Amino acid sequence: MNVPLLLRLRDAGGRFLGLDDLGLDRDRLGVEVAELEAFGVALEWHPYLGIAYRGHAERLCPDLIEWSLDTRHVGRRVAVWNRVASTNDLAVRAAESLANDGLVILAEEQTAGRGRRGRAWSAPARSSALMSVLLFPPARLDDPGWLTALGAVATAEVVETWTGQPARIKWPNDVRVEGRKVAGVLVERGSGAVLGIGLNVNVTAADLPADLQKSATSLQVLRGERLDRSEVVRSLIRRIDAHYLNGLNGDDALLNACWRDRLELFGLRVRVQTTSESIHGHLLDASLRQGLTLRTDEGATRRVLGAEVVTMGRADDTPNSI
Ligand code: BTN
Repeated sequence: MNVPLLLRLRDAGGRFLGLDDLGLDRDRLGVEVAELEAFGVALEWHPYLGIAYRGHAERLCPDLIEWSLDTRHVGRRVAVWNRVASTNDLAVRAAESLANDGLVILAEEQTAGRGRRGRAWSAPARSSALMSVLLFPPARLDDPGWLTALGAVATAEVVETWTGQPARIKWPNDVRVEGRKVAGVLVERGSGAVLGIGLNVNVTAADLPADLQKSATSLQVLRGERLDRSEVVRSLIRRIDAHYLNGLNGDDALLNACWRDRLELFGLRVRVQTTSESIHGHLLDASLRQGLTLRTDEGATRRVLGAEVVTMGRADDTPNSI
């Protein structure tokens, strides 16, 4: 696909561009434009004025995703599938080769998408960003908590960019806007680490199952218009790459600060479950490396590592199960 041509047309903001503007002869332009239209890009032809861009393709466009992506690590290769069981499965399989480090696998549809705790993750075909990134992190970064935070922070930043609304992280892996889940992260392991992200993009309110109507949302719902998923995916790959590079360069504090700033937990009453005890209290601080700092209901300050936050609510609320 001629991506520079696509971008010239798109960036003209709906204006007609003629042959001279586009710098192509009539025959060549005919071929290139036919290819864009066959892919699903909406264009309008005018006999004298030329061609105008009318809308993005509904499909993910691998050429557009990779065009001048300029990432160092993540997205060195991008594979787009039409229908798979789970992109995480494909990424686990791709871990047989170290050459696949940084591989991004995307699918238009999953038939057996997974969420945390064995839950299913489903989304209408061509509606979402269903993505798995394969990484071979050094031992220091090869930690499900760190990798989950990497995915959640990058996704929250992308959500904020495309909606203009603050995106928060509900520990450990949900990205939410005004309390509604817009994305989830699932880190799994094979011989590499797989960072799976499901981000609701062009999901309409009607697409959401009845039981999720109040608790879930999408970029389209938040922004009030359909988005070009290829562009959303590009920004997601770039944010993951930027945070991962910081981690590789030994700058852990940055991701920790971004994650902490977006955590919803502060000011909430939490029940923290370790392997040996259950602690009730209020969360004072959270760190990816040092764990949670709590003021317990008994008034003590406790630091807890490797725990699950199993219930929470506002300070004056009855805790609700998650
Ligand atoms: C959750 O919120 O429980 C995590 C959801 C993660 C879903 C994504 S979609 C892409 C990747 N493939 C999967 O099967 N799951 C993750």
